[in-house]
Amino acid sequence: MTASVVTLRGVAKCFDGRLAVDGVNLDVPAGSCFGLLGPNGAGKTTTLRMVYGVTQPSAGEIRVFGVDVARDARAVRSRLGVTLQENSLIEPLSPEDNLRIFGRYHLLAEPELSRRVEELMDFLELRSHAGVPVRNLSGGFQRRLSIAMSLMNRPELLILDEPTTGLDPAVRQALWARIRELQAEGTTILLTTHYMDEAERLCDRVAVFAEGRVESEGSPRDLIARHLAAETLELECDEATEAALLSDSGELRKMRAGNRLMVYVDDAASLLERVHGLGGTARPVVRPTNLEDVFLAITGTRIEEAEE
Ligand SMILES: Nc1ncnc2c1ncn2[C@@H]1O[C@H](COP(=O)(O)OP(=O)(O)OP(=O)(O)O)[C@@H](O)[C@H]1O
Ligand SMILES: [Mg+2]
Repeated sequence: MTASVVTLRGVAKCFDGRLAVDGVNLDVPAGSCFGLLGPNGAGKTTTLRMVYGVTQPSAGEIRVFGVDVARDARAVRSRLGVTLQENSLIEPLSPEDNLRIFGRYHLLAEPELSRRVEELMDFLELRSHAGVPVRNLSGGFQRRLSIAMSLMNRPELLILDEPTTGLDPAVRQALWARIRELQAEGTTILLTTHYMDEAERLCDRVAVFAEGRVESEGSPRDLIARHLAAETLELECDEATEAALLSDSGELRKMRAGNRLMVYVDDAASLLERVHGLGGTARPVVRPTNLEDVFLAITGTRIEEAEE
């Protein structure tokens, strides 16, 4: 068994009489990249803030590196890096000065301080804007600087709340590569994202939150197998044609969005043959089922069992 870097047991958070987090149990294995997924307001940021020790749980226990965060948040924080959903940067100062000040906060002294600042400017490709006041930087550069700041103390656990929201595709890809490099060096990563392709690429395990609870947890591949099936047949058809198509297919998972039907099957070939033999359908596509399908199945669009 791999040791857990973060464990949550029965963790709850109540705001104004409403449960934002409702009895969450989680184990984040050492060295893993673990993703918290879920719709807006599901409780992801609140959970991360409790792990970091800036929000106190209403109930339950959180241990980071085996230390009870409620008792000794300080001991935990020195080993942890965090990029929260909102950037907190010193606006009139340059990226370089922001990094220096944050380094001093972590009690780094010269020449180590300068070495790390230089290293991080390269790592997050900030050098072209090293001297520009933060307030004049684009959103994407501010985000990159925030992530650089969270790496200043070479954390063993890195918490990233929506790290790539607002980044252009090239920068997202570059950041994914950086996250993988950090993981390869042994850093444990706990992140949230609304991009299911990102979660599928980066995360060894994900927990899908809905209304403050963990609805499902496992590797992206496990979740696809558990909730849906390996392949998705997508096509346009009306409900009568759907009934004819699936008349003797047994129990299948399916989802309808307007005229568009998605059917989840382990092998779509025979179903696709039936589609070709049937009138009233259009644009059939077979593709691998992805985490976005699972996300919708768990949290969103209604999903039904196909009946004979
Ligand atoms: N400080 C606060 N005071 C009152 N309610 C709060 C506070 N922080 C969060 N909430 C509420 O807790 C719930 C969960 O919020 P949270 O920010 O954890 O969601 P999230 O999953 O991170 O959503 P998003 O994907 O939009 O970032 C929401 O209903 C939110 O309004
Ligand atoms: Mg959030």
